Amino acid sequence: MGTYDKKKILEIDRRHIWHPFTQMKDYEDRDPPVIVAARGTKLYSIEGQEFYDTISSWWTNTHGHLHPQLVKALKDQLDRLDHVNFSGFTHPYAAEVVERLRGFLPSKLIRFFFSDNGSTAVEVGLKMAFQFWQNRGFSRKTRFVCLENAYHGDTLGAVSVGGVDLFFKLYKPLTFKTYRAPAPYCYRCPENRGSTFTFSAENISCNFRCLKGLKSILKEHHEEIAALIVEPRLLAAGGMIVYPAEYLRGLVEQARRYGVLVIFDEVATGFGRTGRMFALESAGVVPDILCLAKGLTGGMLPLALTVTTEEVFQAFYADYLEGKTFYHGHSFTAHPLGCAVAAANLKLFAEEKPLEKGRAVQEFFHQRLEEIFSDRPYVGDIRYLGYVGALELVADRRTKEPFPPEKRVGFQVYMASLKAGLVLRPLGDVIYWFLPLCVTKEEVDEILSRSREVLDGILLGK
Ligand SMILES: Cc1ncc(COP(=O)(O)O)c(C=O)c1O
Repeated sequence: MGTYDKKKILEIDRRHIWHPFTQMKDYEDRDPPVIVAARGTKLYSIEGQEFYDTISSWWTNTHGHLHPQLVKALKDQLDRLDHVNFSGFTHPYAAEVVERLRGFLPSKLIRFFFSDNGSTAVEVGLKMAFQFWQNRGFSRKTRFVCLENAYHGDTLGAVSVGGVDLFFKLYKPLTFKTYRAPAPYCYRCPENRGSTFTFSAENISCNFRCLKGLKSILKEHHEEIAALIVEPRLLAAGGMIVYPAEYLRGLVEQARRYGVLVIFDEVATGFGRTGRMFALESAGVVPDILCLAKGLTGGMLPLALTVTTEEVFQAFYADYLEGKTFYHGHSFTAHPLGCAVAAANLKLFAEEKPLEKGRAVQEFFHQRLEEIFSDRPYVGDIRYLGYVGALELVADRRTKEPFPPEKRVGFQVYMASLKAGLVLRPLGDVIYWFLPLCVTKEEVDEILSRSREVLDGILLGK
């Protein structure tokens, strides 16, 4: 398939390819765009149609597509080392990633376990937390606490600590039992009867009813709880729910009080997306275990890390016959190509400081979200944090009643957005933008204006 043959590609796709998170019947009489190129904030189809990649290719892409420094790092690495078993061998490219990443992480996080995607980073974190207690003789500590609306991946351990029923309910019989604490979902909190938007969740004044739910779980069950897992500041797949830093501080405080490890899943929030290198910085808290993936390579290649403390590591460090080894690994652990690109990505963060340079763009993005959407009758909530923005669409703004599921508003928005040269991939009725750090004010304006046209067209019949 040297030159592209659209008809043939679509024929193979329709006959043989099963796409993720997709009801394939929806494509019975429509074709997905065939993407053949990407650059900066845009994707290009086989016919040359341009799309703004407003979701950064499933939240992975940080500096825009095909950033020249990342491309060069990958090409250079191809002349050196493609792959080596990481059990019993090491390589300079992994060492460089660790050394560079340490410059961005809290000083307590100094032990790095490589894997290859966000779900595996979480599986490693869960097993690590569980075995930490087993190795230390706390055999009863086998359970986890997660939040409602949490999403940590699609492998079964990650599903067990997930809180999005649409994705996970069916698989419940396959999963282990966890405690689910209420989500800090300010817009739908029973105490929030007003109609104010959440925005950045900075000015929320409440008595943290959601935290009380967590406290009672910990108080009652802490002796059997190994760890608590949470996405800091943003429940991403659960609806781009932005929540206060104070909640995160309270959560960590409670976990410490009851002797429960804290796992932060920064697979989505890491690498600048929330306006800080890591979302944990906004709350000034440090977990025992941190999961990273997606933006680690700037979104170019699959690579993941589970980072932990010396204390956790030491619980595994023993004579072989004591049986404390961490039996976990993947074929592509610390893949040298991924590591070379990740090192270049981290170098770029350190030298070019995109987050500092992008401060004004982020503020502009938030301001335009408010200006463009506050008066739209279909907008129940507006939320934002750094380069992430979201609208929760509702049928009735006063009662916050959602649209009936059969209306498939999100899917309609997705299909219409493609026609408008945008990729909007809503989560149910939550429309969001997960922008790359290279986006300009002009692009933000264009993306939001086109998005409004799409939404007005569907929901106001304009
Ligand atoms: C917070 C979070 N954790 C874990 C994952 C799973 O990552 P992956 O899709 O690479 O397995 C995701 C994916 O969206 C995520 O948002």
